[in-house]
Order: sequence, then structure tokens, then C-alpha cells
Amino acid sequence: MNHKLLCLLCVLLPIFCISNARAIKDSDIANVLHVHNIQFAQDKYKLNTSKRVHEIRANEKRYIVMEFKNKDSDTYRLVEIERAKMLSASGCGPTFLGKPANNEFYIVEFIDTPLKYDNLNDQKLRELGKFTRKVHNHKYTKNGKSQLDRIKKHSKKIQKRGIAVPDGFNEAVDSFIKNSEKLDTKIGFCHGDLNPSNIRMRGDGSIVFIDWNNAGNGNVYEELGYLVQTYGLDERQISVLLEGYLGESPTQDYIDRVKFFAKRTCLLTAAVWFGFSESSYDKKISQKDRVKIINDMAKSEGFMKFEEYSRKGQIPNVKSANKDEVKKYALSAWKEYKENIVGANFFDKLKKWFGSFL
Ligand SMILES: Nc1ncnc2c1ncn2[C@@H]1O[C@H](COP(=O)(O)OP(=O)(O)O)[C@@H](O)[C@H]1O
Ligand SMILES: [Mg+2]
Repeated sequence: MNHKLLCLLCVLLPIFCISNARAIKDSDIANVLHVHNIQFAQDKYKLNTSKRVHEIRANEKRYIVMEFKNKDSDTYRLVEIERAKMLSASGCGPTFLGKPANNEFYIVEFIDTPLKYDNLNDQKLRELGKFTRKVHNHKYTKNGKSQLDRIKKHSKKIQKRGIAVPDGFNEAVDSFIKNSEKLDTKIGFCHGDLNPSNIRMRGDGSIVFIDWNNAGNGNVYEELGYLVQTYGLDERQISVLLEGYLGESPTQDYIDRVKFFAKRTCLLTAAVWFGFSESSYDKKISQKDRVKIINDMAKSEGFMKFEEYSRKGQIPNVKSANKDEVKKYALSAWKEYKENIVGANFFDKLKKWFGSFL
């Protein structure tokens, strides 16, 4: 190996390792849980890449350790810990099991099983609706991250990096942003990222939501729409879910509203996946050519209908999946949005639904 390259590796490797190192000591966790023999679950040292979520075992039981990053301020930590305690007390989040005095991390209950589309019979759908209503009823003071905030963030990233998007996408984002204020109608405490990967069940079948980082007050229709779309529910299933949510059969009007918000969320999904759709290889192609490629791809028939991805549990991992798969998924979400929202004369419907607010 080239000498200079070797020196560079010797300098960079330790820095890389330190930045990825787990800061928490096993003894600190043991002190909080009052147990011995902590084991970090193998291959799951980091369950994800953006946050530090650890699965551990002690005395045959599993726990989740949520580790803060060095850059997280004291206020940020306290807000998150208080929210986790509130959700534990109401039974909507995992049971809060403790934290050390320095707020380096906190520990919560491990929730056994993901609630997958295939397990959503009518009874579970009703339960899920009722549970979501319970979440929305919390009294809370802070706003959460809305889809508007999230779309703004991801579309900015797309523009900054010069990522190719299909014709009409940027205009659709602009009009989404313009219309959002008018649509912010019904406020409740929202989870903020209510998709199947964050919905789990205990051994006794009871539902618990995890991953509350985006939580806070927000538009409950938007949350219901996102839940419906990310599971790929059909109209009958939406009606059953809402029956649980409302405690009575929903009107067609209510179902239509949630359907509208469901389709609206497809733009956010498209923006997130487009943001991760290009590799360093793509960057060697001019932006003009990349736009042509993505437009040609959009016209082809070679990808799955958006809801099928959810129903089959085949959503490509936004960060690690093959870029072609990421592009196809983003295009499928964009197609769903375009067919249902862009060009549809929804302002008449909106006047009917939200007349008193517009
Ligand atoms: N309380 C929990 N019980 C069981 N698994 C959990 C729990 N919290 C997190 N996980 C696991 O860790 C993964 C990542 O955690 P999450 O908070 O959802 O972060 P992300 O922002 O990456 O979605 C989850 O998808 C789930 O597999
Ligand atoms: Mg999650």
C-alpha cells in the first residue's frame, strides 16, 4: 500500500472509531437497572444509523437504551426525557425504566413485535384507531415536526445537492408549502412519524408506539393520513380504523378527508427517497442528463404501485438499498401524489371540508 495512504488511514481510522464509539459504560446501565451482566445484543449494537438506539439484555430480559449524542443540549435531553415519561405514564410509549443523573441516556421497555400489515385484522385496526386517538388527546405545549417542516428540509437538501427530480416535482413542493398553512386545521398531540416500523406490540398483543422524536402538537388528519398511506390501507380498512378512532362509524366526508391527507403524504415520501436516490457514480453524469433519465424512468412501467410496497413490507431502506430501488420507490410515491393530488380539483372539496377555516 502507498505510504501516504497508510499514514492517512492511521490518522483517520481512530477518529472514525471514536466518533462511532458507544460512550455509555455497562456499569452506568447496570446502576440504573439495578442488574448485573449487561450484554449488548449482537449485530444490533446500533439499531439504526442516525440515532443511538441500543438493544441490551440482562437477566434474560431485553431493554432499549436511548443514548444521547454529545451535541444534544441539556434542554433537548430534558424535553425528550419528560416526553418519554409522559408517554410511559399514559401507556402510549414504552415504560420508562430510568436514567443516570447526567442524562447521558435513558432506558425503556423492549416492545416485542412489529405490527405488520398482515396482522391487521379488523379488531387490530379498531384498536390501532382507538390507540391513535388516545395519543392525540394528550395535553402538550410544544409543536412537533409537521410534514411541512419535513418537506422543506428534504427539498432544500435535494436542491442543494443538485439531485435530479422528475418534471413538475419542484412546482408540486412549492404548492404543497403554499397550501399547508390553510390545511393546518385540527390540532392534537401527534406522534409525527406514524408508520409501521414505529408501531409494535407487547407479548399480550397490546399496541405501543416507539420513536417519538418528531412528536408534538400537529394536524391530526395529517397523522391519520400518514398512518393510512404507510400501511397501504384500502377504503374499507380506513373506515374500520376510523371507527376505532372516533368511537362511531365515520361519515364518508371524514373518510374522504383522511384519504386526501393520505395521498398528500406521498410527496413527503417521494422527497425523502429522492434525497437519497443518487450515488457518487450518478454525480458523474450531468444534471441535465440525470433529469432526462429520471423522467424516462417515470414514464416506464417497471415499478410497483406505491401501496404494494407497504402491503408487502418491501419498502427499500432509504440509506442502504440499491439506488435504483430507491429511485423507483421515490417515483412510485411521486406517481401516487401526482395522480391523486396534482391537477385534481381539490380546492372545491377543501372548501367543503374546511370551509370554516379557509
Ligand atoms: N422500545 C423498543 N422496543 C423494541 N425495539 C425498539 C424500541 N425502540 C427502538 N427499537 C428498534 O430500534 C429501531 C430504531 O429505533 P427508532 O427509535 O425507531 O429509530 P429510527 O429513527 O431509526 O426509526 C426500531 O425500528 C426498532 O427495531
Ligand atoms: Mg423508527
